Amino acid sequence: GFDIGKLRAETGLVTLDSGYGNTAAYKSAITYLDGEQGILRYRGYPIEQLAERGTFLETAYLLINGELPSVDQQAAFKDEITRHTLLHEDVKRFYDGFPRDAHPMAMLSSVVSALSTFYQDSHNPFDQEQRHLSTIRLLAKLPTIAAYAYKKAIGHPVVYPRNDLGYVENFLRMTFSVPAAEYELDPVVVNALDKLLILHADHEQNCSTSTVRLVGSSQANMFASISAGINALWGPLHGGANQSVLEMLQGIKASGSDVDSFIRKVKDKEDGVKLMGFGHRVYKNFDPRAQIIKAAAHDVLSALGKSDELLDIALKLEERALSDDYFVSRKLYPNVDFYTGLIYRAMGFPTSMFTVLFALGRLPGWIAQWHEMIKEPGSRIGRPRQIYTGVVQREYVPIESR
Ligand code: ACO
Repeated sequence: GFDIGKLRAETGLVTLDSGYGNTAAYKSAITYLDGEQGILRYRGYPIEQLAERGTFLETAYLLINGELPSVDQQAAFKDEITRHTLLHEDVKRFYDGFPRDAHPMAMLSSVVSALSTFYQDSHNPFDQEQRHLSTIRLLAKLPTIAAYAYKKAIGHPVVYPRNDLGYVENFLRMTFSVPAAEYELDPVVVNALDKLLILHADHEQNCSTSTVRLVGSSQANMFASISAGINALWGPLHGGANQSVLEMLQGIKASGSDVDSFIRKVKDKEDGVKLMGFGHRVYKNFDPRAQIIKAAAHDVLSALGKSDELLDIALKLEERALSDDYFVSRKLYPNVDFYTGLIYRAMGFPTSMFTVLFALGRLPGWIAQWHEMIKEPGSRIGRPRQIYTGVVQREYVPIESR
């Protein structure tokens, strides 16, 4: 076919594609996404079926290995993860050094990066066993790292993992148990969180995944690559949007729940105000994840017996936006982040932990994409080109003469 490399060598031609809106950087067999029709499938399985009937761990297995696990494979996978949930005691000292009001995403990426200092036996991306070990360690330890970050923020002692519990149960217990009172696991919360993690598990070449691939393309180890992905996710235009949505809803409530004047501000682009949780680079009709999550928000809030004025504000915002030409003409619809924060809040998570929950969900996707990139025959270092706009040449002037 057409060889762009050859054309560039012959003509010096370089394509400029702001935000990579039209440039495919990789071939991938992991996630199928049709933005026009609102279709999302992991390895061919519709997201709706996985969210309804699957579990997060089997989804992780599917993304990373390409097939759903058998009963035995699932048990072995779970068993292996369970045996790696503990953090080295010295890791706790990192938390001692962080300020108490540190954002948990900063702690998460720092500690994941620091794992590469503890596990120097799994740095070689071309050794299959080492890759596997890093995969298991990351899946096993990220919930522990996340729960420790929460405990640090509230000044409580950490709770060690318990290996008889499921992945989500263990995370919830490490987060919410205190020495004086064991956290009571509520199946409604466990199932809802498991479902949310499935919905976040991969989303092809988004900003954080592309970051993981780009860092990994230099053959940096998996901990270094995933730590970079966590930082990319933190931004408010990406995973950080779930925190921003809740802060936006709280702001609207504090100003007397005036939804219409907020919408006006967004349309006037006043101070760069955006309707957070709306819009997507790829989805132009609806985000299938948002539809599932909207229904879950209702179910979880009513099952937990919680009413939330912020949900009413969110529903009103959505209704107004979907009948307003500003949003309709720009094809702006609720994305995955619009309703998730309300569920996390009902479960008891503080706003600053929302993006951490996104990271827990996205981890298997990052890992699967990292493996795919490393295993791709002829894979090259990621290295975009540029269009230079500066001065082409000038003579050095000694400082006394400037
Ligand atoms: N509120 C108001 N206007 C918006 C919004 C929004 N949420 N999103 C896009 N627009 C407008 C832009 O101002 C632009 O209008 P203009 O042509 O008049 O300047 C137009 O819609 C196109 O927007 P772009 O910024 O070009 O879209 P892009 O594909 O680059 O950005 C993004 C997508 C980042 C998701 C954007 O829609 C956004 O900032 N949304 C809010 C943040 C958010 O919810 N992020 C989470 C995304 S999903 C995820 O990562 C999990």
